[in-house]
Amino acid sequence: MNGDLFGGKPAPGLIFLPGFALDDEAVLLAAAEAVAAASPFRVMAVPGGAQMSAAITNCGAAGWVSDRRGYRYQTLDPETGAAWPEMPDVFRDLAVRAAAQAGFADFTPDVCLMNRYAPGAKMGLHQDRDEADFAAPIVSVSLGLPAVFLWGGPKRTGGTVKLPLEHGDVLVWGGTERLYFHGIAPVKPGTHPILGAVRLNLTFRCALQAV
Ligand code: SIN
Ligand code: FE2
Repeated sequence: MNGDLFGGKPAPGLIFLPGFALDDEAVLLAAAEAVAAASPFRVMAVPGGAQMSAAITNCGAAGWVSDRRGYRYQTLDPETGAAWPEMPDVFRDLAVRAAAQAGFADFTPDVCLMNRYAPGAKMGLHQDRDEADFAAPIVSVSLGLPAVFLWGGPKRTGGTVKLPLEHGDVLVWGGTERLYFHGIAPVKPGTHPILGAVRLNLTFRCALQAV
């Protein structure tokens, strides 16, 4: 399925579904707005004390949060004191279909982390490892401004391959690559026709239970 995605360089385990979310862009963006109206985007600190450059919010059974004490999932939004908004059906449906298309037939996400990038914002190389188990894949939806996805390997060192992502593209990874390092290069200035100067990422995971 990956074909010649990286100009011939191998990118094992990363499944690229270009434009997979395009048909649903209007309903996805409306649903994202509704989530953010209930649990607003906010900039969180990382354990070292620095601020993340992307603003985040969540929907689903729990939300990923970060502060000086570390990273974790919690069922209440620390900002509102209430439960995170429910995951919109259009979110879950898209993630289930993308995972199935990528070969993960039984994926039903329980959480969705929403990352909002202004130009200049980035996501350093990291592993997604705060979930209860790693049997389920990760589904990552890109909307708005383009970005460059950095795909590493099982170790932080060893380099990355660079995958340009556009509005509507979806990535899926799991299995033996579930804990691979990945990140987002600084988002370039620009204006997206719908979202303006914003890149929005929706990351779907099973955080609380195995699939
Ligand atoms: C992440 O890895 O948490 C975010 C990836 C992205 O924004 O595409
Ligand atoms: Fe990640």
